[in-house]
Amino acid sequence: MTLPPPADSSPPVVELRDAAKSYPGGVHALRGVNLTVAEGELLAVVGPSGSGKSTMLNVMGTLDKPTTGTVKVAGYDVSALSDSRLSALRARHIGFVFQQFHLAAGRDAVDNVADGLLYAGVPLRERRARAREALAKVGLDHRGSHTPNELSGGEKQRVAIARALVGEPRLLLADEPTGALDTASGAIVMELLHELNASGTTICVITHDNGIADSLPRRVRFKDGEIVSDSYSVSPVEGAGR
Ligand SMILES: Nc1ncnc2c1ncn2[C@@H]1O[C@H](COP(=O)(O)OP(=O)(O)OP(=O)(O)O)[C@@H](O)[C@H]1O
Ligand SMILES: [Mg+2]
Repeated sequence: MTLPPPADSSPPVVELRDAAKSYPGGVHALRGVNLTVAEGELLAVVGPSGSGKSTMLNVMGTLDKPTTGTVKVAGYDVSALSDSRLSALRARHIGFVFQQFHLAAGRDAVDNVADGLLYAGVPLRERRARAREALAKVGLDHRGSHTPNELSGGEKQRVAIARALVGEPRLLLADEPTGALDTASGAIVMELLHELNASGTTICVITHDNGIADSLPRRVRFKDGEIVSDSYSVSPVEGAGR
């Protein structure tokens, strides 16, 4: 499925305008969120449990639609795209990593990573070859034939990261990627995210860990479905250009 070019020639990677998400029963998970993420950023999303962080990440990643407001990914207004175009946009631009890895049990690391290319229309042989390359990037070339139950938590998360990056997405969305890991494995995963960012991938990481949040160039703080602060360790221009 091909996409027509976006209206804006160098758009932000993601743009949320007045994005709100409500559920029946008066739950307001997001209350009018405005956020622009530029190419090359590495940002932390922090805030109390239930404050809307995962909801926002899912909306940014087009896994979920806002009740009102606009979401643009790579310049495309998500609400204007058909389901097949949305799948094409997601396959080409976005990778996801979750706290609980979400690997397929009984499938080895190579096949789990190769699945990251299922919707990109790549033939099986090439999917597997590219999966091996992605596993090498996360330092797991020697674990390709291992199934998830034969891997440590940190290794599982590195396989999940390889699956997210095998399609070379511009944007990686990670929902508490270190939440289920010990400190040492978490540090390896964060190091990997820094390397990916240095090579050009834009990354949003939800974290409960203040140490991790403080180590990232930008921090977006949530409370009750709203952004209450947005701070940079370096200027936005420098941060965006990394
Ligand atoms: N499908 C749903 N139906 C109804 N309410 C929902 C649904 N999904 C999320 N919520 C509510 O929306 C609010 C925000 O949830 P969200 O998962 O975004 O929080 P979070 O900041 O990621 O929390 P945590 O740190 O615990 O993961 C919560 O009050 C939650 O109960
Ligand atoms: Mg969450």
